Amino acid sequence: MASSSSSSLLVATVFLLTAVSLFSPSQSATCASQTFTGGRDRVYTFCTDLPALDSYLHWSYDQPESTLSIAFVAAPTRPEGWISWSINPTGTGMVGAQALAAFRDSRGGMAVKTYNVTGYGPLKESRVWYEVKESSAEYSGGVMRLFATLVLPAKGLTAVNHVWQVGPSVTGGVPDKHEFKAGNMKAKGILDLLRGQSNGAAGGDSKTNKRNIHGILNVVSWGIMFPIGIVMARYLRTFPSADPAWFYLHVSCQVSAYAIGVAGWATGLKLGSESKGVTYSYHRNIGIALFVLSTLQVFALLLRPKKDHKYRLYWNIYHHGVGYSVLILSIINVFKGFDILKPEPKWENAYIIVIGIVGGVAVLLEAITWTVVVRRRKSKNQSLSP
Ligand SMILES: *[C@@H]1O[C@H](CO)[C@@H](O)[C@H](O)[C@H]1NC(C)=O
Repeated sequence: MASSSSSSLLVATVFLLTAVSLFSPSQSATCASQTFTGGRDRVYTFCTDLPALDSYLHWSYDQPESTLSIAFVAAPTRPEGWISWSINPTGTGMVGAQALAAFRDSRGGMAVKTYNVTGYGPLKESRVWYEVKESSAEYSGGVMRLFATLVLPAKGLTAVNHVWQVGPSVTGGVPDKHEFKAGNMKAKGILDLLRGQSNGAAGGDSKTNKRNIHGILNVVSWGIMFPIGIVMARYLRTFPSADPAWFYLHVSCQVSAYAIGVAGWATGLKLGSESKGVTYSYHRNIGIALFVLSTLQVFALLLRPKKDHKYRLYWNIYHHGVGYSVLILSIINVFKGFDILKPEPKWENAYIIVIGIVGGVAVLLEAITWTVVVRRRKSKNQSLSP
């Protein structure tokens, strides 16, 4: 009974996740309809509608040469204001940003300058982390366009932290402070240099597929099968008629979860090694801990003392301790993974529903188990009393 219902739940989940993945990236891109004057030099491989400040980034990236050509499009807060786009090679926010800024100069043309942003103090034009091979800017219709070709000093990057911003004014050739509204604070993120919204994304699709495979394998194994295996062990054991069936169910569920989980884990290592420039340390470290702990569990099975052995109690405590740690870390890491891959919300919602059902079943079984155990104790006491 329990095995058929849990495996059909699994099949349903795999089906659901696969179905969702087929329908996933369907955002309508505004940037894809933007074009620039200036001929072939102003045609870019990728673009993205940035998630804050109504701004857009277009880029082409020559990975072997580490050359990045960008067009950053945004409206300054006021016509006499500025727009800026930065790479932050050392952090995720404004501090450390290696900024390009465009604004109108005193003669009515457009200036592009670079700033090494060290804090919230006044900016000073300076050299930056990358070399600027060429830069220019345009202003029309309330919108500024900043063009630049950069040579990045780090070889083979696939992603960078970027920050963008718009400001209201420029004083003495120096951009003044920006506003501190929600949009200004949210204007940062990770730019996947090899993947954008426009068509003909060379290499972008295969990377997306790898990420989806990584997500599906790990959500199914760590996020769903392991918890189901733990629920089976904990609750089926109460029923004498389910012995030793619960044991084999539990072992086969966890061993298959482990096999799928290790495959998923390996895809994660691969993705991690390909993602030069951005390391998701929490997700990676939890993933490594999960691999170690679950490998220990598999070996613990081989070292399991007999039921009446004096060390069996300690083995049980150890096995349960590690098991529950794996349970908690798995679920945390699935959500960390959702944060990184940012699939459409329905993925995460589907997982929340599935894990919610597993949790709900566990709570129900916990209640039933307690009633059974209490009743059993009572009847034992009665049969013992004279
Ligand atoms: C930017 O400023 C920081 C702090 O002063 C300094 O450590 C760093 O070397 C500077 N970067 C460049 C490219 O000059």
